[in-house]
Parts: sequence; structure tokens; C-alpha cells
Amino acid sequence: MRIFSGIQPTGRKHLGNYIGAIVQYVAGQDRGEAIYSIVDLHSLTVPFDPRELPQLVYDTAAILLAAGLDPERCILFRQSDVHEHTELTWLLTSVTAKGELERMTQYKDKSAKQRELSTAGLFLYPVLMAADVLAYRAHEVPVGEDQRQHVELMRDVAGRFNARFGETLVVPEAVIPQVGARIMDLQDPTSKMSTTSASAEGTVYVLDEPAQIERKFKRAVTDSGKGVHRAPDKPGIANLIEILAVVRGVDPAVVEHEHREAGYGDFKVAVAAAVVDYLAPVRERYNELRADEARLESIFAAGAERARALASVTLADVRAAMGVGSPR
Ligand code: AMP
Ligand code: TRP
Repeated sequence: MRIFSGIQPTGRKHLGNYIGAIVQYVAGQDRGEAIYSIVDLHSLTVPFDPRELPQLVYDTAAILLAAGLDPERCILFRQSDVHEHTELTWLLTSVTAKGELERMTQYKDKSAKQRELSTAGLFLYPVLMAADVLAYRAHEVPVGEDQRQHVELMRDVAGRFNARFGETLVVPEAVIPQVGARIMDLQDPTSKMSTTSASAEGTVYVLDEPAQIERKFKRAVTDSGKGVHRAPDKPGIANLIEILAVVRGVDPAVVEHEHREAGYGDFKVAVAAAVVDYLAPVRERYNELRADEARLESIFAAGAERARALASVTLADVRAAMGVGSPR
């Protein structure tokens, strides 16, 4: 069984990324052949700084390694090192419906924000993402809830390719965690936690200092009622319950039961303490791993070589199926 996922390069990975995706990547190493890519080409679809980008790729690699990815047990590589991704993107555009791309909610949200220049790259982002996965004939794609629509699209693309050109690609499936697939902003529990949210106070970063984490949880927005339990009118408390459940590795019902007598203030302190303990080892390992850029480059070089060996086989099949290039 083959697993593929991609993550955008930034050092500001947050608790949502960690719980929704990174924890699943680590677990994937024991479940199958796990392949993970830091998708620097996806970063070109929003404003970026060319001098900063290589550094952000290192930051992300160090976070992933600190979280427990082991280059001996998975393939970890930088997307732009494997040219097959960009070639397959173009080949797949011929079986991707423009209308489908227009319906992508992430595209609609992000393009509304690109006032000066709404780029074709942003529009084609989901096709590059489809190419990432389909190039490896991966079966499973561990992601958070916000990527479900993109995985649906790549399933359609793979299915359409196979119907038009013959059985060539594997139709992958999204693997979305039961609990923690959509961690909410602490200041606005009706929006998902994200790097680009209105207030930095609502986003807990993996690399935040313990004091920052404690402050953010203490100030978390909740309703004015009481009772630590999940309910539609209690999105703030429900979010904290989910976070504590994942961090402790228990069912949310266990958290509710244990804290049924607690006031909101005490409950927030308990969640903060658990998250601090949870992230502390990651932050410590990060500093050491991030310092050795030569080692990160050698991990990328080895990862890209292994990735290319797999992707080039798929590309040869795709080209042959489509009649592109000299006939085999
Ligand atoms: P990105 O940083 O956008 O590349 O996202 C990396 C992964 O984190 C993707 O699989 C997302 O689905 C997941 N993710 C992003 N935000 C959240 C969130 N608030 N809760 C859970 N998962 C998330
Ligand atoms: N679009 C994904 C995100 O924003 C990142 C990504 C790129 C990805 N390529 C992928 C995720 C392939 C899974 C598989 O989170």
C-alpha cells in the first residue's frame, strides 16, 4: 500500500497542520510505503519571496523530521527536484474539466484575495496536486478536511484518464482523521485555524514558546455558559475538547467525562499544559535539525532519487498511453 502527501513550505506550521496531517504522516511510515513532499511549486501560486523560499523548505523539513519522519522509513523530498510532477501536470490538464477547477472552494477564496493579479497557477494548483499523487500511483492521501475537495478532483482526473486512455493510473483515496481533521481558530472558533487568519492569537504554532501557547489558550474564545461538553452552540469548547483528546490520544467523550465539573478557565489551563508537553520535544529537536542544512540537502537528494525512480515509470506509461513522444 502506497501513501502520498504534500505540505506547503513554511516554518509557521500550526497545531491544525500537526494534528490534521503531520501525525498521520508519521503513522503512515508503519502502515505502508510512505512518500512525502514539501511542495515548493505550490507556493508560487500565492505571493512569495524568492530569497526566503529555500529557507522555508528547510524549516518545514526540520519540523517534519522533528515530528518523527525518518528518511530510512519514508521518502521525503522537495517537489521541484522531481520534474515529473510538472510534466504530468500538463498531461493531466487534458483530462481536467475547467468547470471543476472553477468550483474549487480554495481557489475561489484565494483568487478573491489576489486583487492585482489572479494567476493561472492558482487556478491550476489542484492539477499539480493531482500530479503529485498520481505520479506515484498512491492509494492513500492523508490530509485535513480542507483538502477533501482536491482529492475528489484527483479521483475524477484519474478516472477520466483511465476511461479515455486505458487503465494507467491508481484512483487514490483521502484519509482524513476522525478527530482533529479541522482544528478551529482559538479567537474565532467558526473558522479553521490557519496561518493567514485575522489574528495571530488564534493560531498555535508548532514552534511557539510554552508561554505563548499558554497565553493563547487562556485567551481562547468560548461561550458564556458552562459545562465542558460538545454542542453546536459551543464551537470554542468543542474545539478545545477535540484538541485535548488528540493530544492525549483518547476519545473526546473521555475528555468530557473527566472535565465535567471543571470551569472553562481551569479547562483551558489543562489544555494548554497538555499542548505544551506535546509540542516541547518537537521544538527541541527542531533547533538541532534545522541547523544542519547540508544534512537536509542530502536527505532531499536521496529522497528525490527514490521518488524519481517511481515517478518516471508512471510518466513513461502515461506518455505511451497518450501517444506523446516517440512510440515504444
Ligand atoms: P498546508 O500547510 O496548507 O500545506 O496544509 C498541510 C496539511 O494540514 C493539509 O493536509 C491540511 O488539510 C491540514 N490542515 C490545514 N489546516 C488545518 C486545520 N485547521 N485543521 C486540521 N488540518 C489542517
Ligand atoms: N494542497 C495541499 C495543502 O494545501 C498540499 C498538497 C500539495 C498536497 N500536493 C499534495 C496534499 C498532494 C496531499 C497530496 O495542504
